[in-house]
Amino acid sequence: MGSSGVGRWASRTRWSRGFAIARDATVAPVSEALARLVSATEAALADAGLGDDRARCDAIRPAMEALLRDPSPIPDSAREPLEGQAVGNVLHTDALGRFHVMAVVFPETTSSGVHHHGCWGVIGYLQGSDEETRYRAVADAGDRADLEEDSRHTWHQGAVTYLLPPETGAGAGEGCWHRVRNPGPGTGVSVHVLCRTPSDHPHRFWDRHTHSVLPYPFVEATPGRWRAEVVGLG
Ligand SMILES: [Fe+2]
Repeated sequence: MGSSGVGRWASRTRWSRGFAIARDATVAPVSEALARLVSATEAALADAGLGDDRARCDAIRPAMEALLRDPSPIPDSAREPLEGQAVGNVLHTDALGRFHVMAVVFPETTSSGVHHHGCWGVIGYLQGSDEETRYRAVADAGDRADLEEDSRHTWHQGAVTYLLPPETGAGAGEGCWHRVRNPGPGTGVSVHVLCRTPSDHPHRFWDRHTHSVLPYPFVEATPGRWRAEVVGLG
């Protein structure tokens, strides 16, 4: 988890004026809404009665919706881009490495490029808007893929969506492809609950010109602030 140490947020907390303060004073305060989202995710992952990722995402959803209604769910600093560019500001990393929570910031007009998430996620739109394009894999050989646009939707504050594989057809059960772009106005901020740790999250980039698929790992640029960086783009 690098040097940020946010994995310790999971269990060592006390409550003060609606914020849980980590016993380690070097980390930022955690809002009650964020603590509840973390607790809901832990409960969903531990519930053997939930049969698949969609059921677990559905169980997490109410806590995400509550967080999006909260007047101050994340620190103001987590809404900031990094040097004018997109960034994921880590808010929590599960002590068992099962998931993490990031505030993903896209300055106006910036885009993620087309990329693939290899396991589940729940996204809540907190500020601004994001145009999301989903793609269907016609073929995916690991290092090359042929994609077709499947849908396009602009999300606004309060909306929740999931990163889940198609349930049928090509690419079923193998994660999902998408691209997000902030059409403006203003900075877009969304809260992501994503599988695994930031450094282990399975993430691939699609070069739309060559159809090559390249590693797109999250890399910690400064403590607690992560960027997805394409490896091997020619
Ligand atoms: Fe994504």
